[in-house]
Amino acid sequence: MESLYEEVASLLVKQKQCVALTGAGISLESGIPTFREKGGLWEKYDPMVYASIDVFRKDPSKYWSLRDYFIKDYDKYQPNKAHYALKDLEDMGIVRCVITQNIDGLHKKAGSKNVVEIHGSIREIYCTKCGKEYEAPHIPDGIPPYCLCGGVLKPNTILFGEELPQDALLKARNESMSCKTMLLVGTSAIVYPAASLPNTAKQNGAKIVEINIEEAFSDADYFIKEKAGTALPKIVEEIRIIDKH
Ligand code: APR
Repeated sequence: MESLYEEVASLLVKQKQCVALTGAGISLESGIPTFREKGGLWEKYDPMVYASIDVFRKDPSKYWSLRDYFIKDYDKYQPNKAHYALKDLEDMGIVRCVITQNIDGLHKKAGSKNVVEIHGSIREIYCTKCGKEYEAPHIPDGIPPYCLCGGVLKPNTILFGEELPQDALLKARNESMSCKTMLLVGTSAIVYPAASLPNTAKQNGAKIVEINIEEAFSDADYFIKEKAGTALPKIVEEIRIIDKH
C-alpha cells in the first residue's frame, strides 16, 4: 500500500504543471504569527479596524500601531524548510508558480522565481502623497510614519476592502485554471478572492493536495495533516526516490 506521500509524489511527477497556493501557515515555522488561529493576530486585533482601508484613510495610526508585528523584524525573518522545498520543486520542473497570500516576501527570499504576491508585499512601503518609495524595515519612526513631504506612508499590501492588484489576480486565476495539480499550503481558505482559486483549479480538472495541520479546504483530493515544514520536504524526498528509479 503506497503511503500518502508516495501517492502525492507520483501524482506530482506524473502531472507536473503544479501551482502552490500558500497562506500564513507556511510562515509560522519562520516565527511569523498566523491570523485566525488561537493566539493569532486577528484574535487580538479586529482586522476591520486595524487592517481596513476605510479606517486607514481616516486614521492610519490604527494600522501602524501593528508596525512591530509586520515591519520591525522584516529583515530578521528567514524562509523555513517549507519555502525551500517549494523552491526545490520549482527547480525540479514540478511547481511552475507559487501564489501567496503572505506579505512576508519569504518565497522570494527562499529563491522561488515565479511568485505571485496577491496581497502585495510589506517590503514595499510608499508615501501616499508624493509616491516616494521606502523599503521595510527602513522607514521613519512614528505611528503613523510620515514621509519627508509630510505624507503618510502605506505598505504596498492589500487591506480589507481594498482592490487586489489586477495583474497579480489575473495571473493567479490563469495559473489556477490551467494547472494540473494545486498544493494548498497553510491557509484557512476563507478570504476571497484567494479562496476561490482552489475551486477554480478543481473545476478545471486539477487535483488538490492540501497540506495543513487541520483540514481547511473540504474538497481536496489528498489531505496531508502535517506541518508544512515537515510535509513539503518529505514530498521532495519521495520525488527524488522516484526520479532515481
Ligand atoms: N503548517 C501548515 N499549516 C499551518 C501551520 C503549519 N505549521 N500552522 C498553522 N497552519 C494553518 C492553520 O491551520 C490555518 O488553516 O495555517 C492556516 C492559517 O490561516 P490564517 O491565519 O487564516 O491565514 P491565511 O489563510 O493566510 O489568511 C488569509 O487573510 O487576514 C488576511 O490578508 C490576510 O493573507 C491573509 C488572509
